[in-house]
Amino acid sequence: MEGGGLPQGFEATPNNLEPFWMPFTWNRRFKEQPKLITGADGMHYTTHDGREVLDGTAGLWCVNAGHNRRRIVEAVQQQVAQLDYAPTFQLGHPLTFQLANQLVQMAPQGAFDHVFFANSGSEAVDSALKIAMAYHRARGQGERRRFIGRERGYHGVGFGGISVGGITNNRRMFAELPGTDHMRHTFDLKEQAYSRGQPDWGAHLADDLERMCALHGAETIAGVIVEPVAGSTGVLLPPKGYLQRLREICDKHGILLIFDEVITGFGRLGSGFAAEYFGVTPDIITLAKGITNGVVPMGAVMVREGIYDSVMAGAERGGGTIEFFHGYTYTGHPLACAAGLATLEIYKEEELFQRAARLAPVWEDALHNLKGTRHIKDLRNLGLIAGIELESRPDAPGQRGYDAFTRAWEKGLLIRVTGDIIALSPPLILDEGHIDRIFQTLKETLEETD
Ligand SMILES: Cc1ncc(COP(=O)(O)O)c(C=O)c1O
Repeated sequence: MEGGGLPQGFEATPNNLEPFWMPFTWNRRFKEQPKLITGADGMHYTTHDGREVLDGTAGLWCVNAGHNRRRIVEAVQQQVAQLDYAPTFQLGHPLTFQLANQLVQMAPQGAFDHVFFANSGSEAVDSALKIAMAYHRARGQGERRRFIGRERGYHGVGFGGISVGGITNNRRMFAELPGTDHMRHTFDLKEQAYSRGQPDWGAHLADDLERMCALHGAETIAGVIVEPVAGSTGVLLPPKGYLQRLREICDKHGILLIFDEVITGFGRLGSGFAAEYFGVTPDIITLAKGITNGVVPMGAVMVREGIYDSVMAGAERGGGTIEFFHGYTYTGHPLACAAGLATLEIYKEEELFQRAARLAPVWEDALHNLKGTRHIKDLRNLGLIAGIELESRPDAPGQRGYDAFTRAWEKGLLIRVTGDIIALSPPLILDEGHIDRIFQTLKETLEETD
């Protein structure tokens, strides 16, 4: 086991902890009762007080190949010693091209031919929205500037992402971009409770997109963005036929379909991408997280054949030089590319996506064995994802979830909670013993939580 122990000179006192404004955190509580991670290896984290914690969430849905993979660590070490940074505006370095080639080769249905790099899922989403607008404009349809997202969707925290996203707490404090609207979400407890895999009920909810087209005028809509499986909102699965129906409606109206695969990309469902799993080819795919196994920040946008060419042709007609006025200082950062290439090799050589597919039925059975456990009102799953919805305490939504999170942590299991919904998404290297331990610990946690 690597790591463990606090760095020299660092004490976990409230004074030391205060200056860091923590993201998506109950800061005041954390600083009274800190949970500090100091090392990681394989399926486990190490805490500052030397405990081992089983990672039930692959960090934040990103460490798909498990922690501390030598191959990735060494690739990054070698890269930083050779080329620490290179701009990618009007210049290039070989690894970006290599990684883009690899991604295009593994892309679903062989239908994607270009990749734009960003540094996070949020940036990937904002880039994807801009690409969609640029595409329509290049084809003489510049009036297509509207985007349709979905209630309870999570597309990161940029202004583009929160505008198409549909999580109330992420939106209520902030103004959103004009020209966005939302379809209904796809979850209905009454119709779908305790579904195994995709629910049978709900394909018709995709017809909400027709309603949006009628309301706004389909010719004003640039794109529709959805998570094929919504994760951060508490694991919502697409009803059977739903994504196919969205695809049909987009085709009918010339609207680009964007799949936000930031969590579903790289094996989470037992295939490279959710697009492959569901047999639905979107026009644009956003990626992040598992692209580098979480080792170096990176996001990416893959576009279907024709999109890049259209933008190039548009610029050609306009006589300009730069075709797309967008990019980041760290687009295609050498360390991220090195981590990405090593990560993709691991996925392939260890057949981790196939492993996830093989384990998915075991995972499903273990999850549904929790039925009847205290506080549980729904269980849902797909691939190596599980959602466990708890009854909320009267007048205190989210408190039971938070208490379960803390208790599980103390018992040596990392889970993730969104309000009173627990989400699990372990590294794909887990084995059946880990699955038993995850669900056994969870059962005890819930039995002991008020
Ligand atoms: C579907 C989806 N899109 C976008 C994001 C944002 O990614 P990031 O936190 O890297 O900006 C997330 C993060 O969880 C996500 O789940």
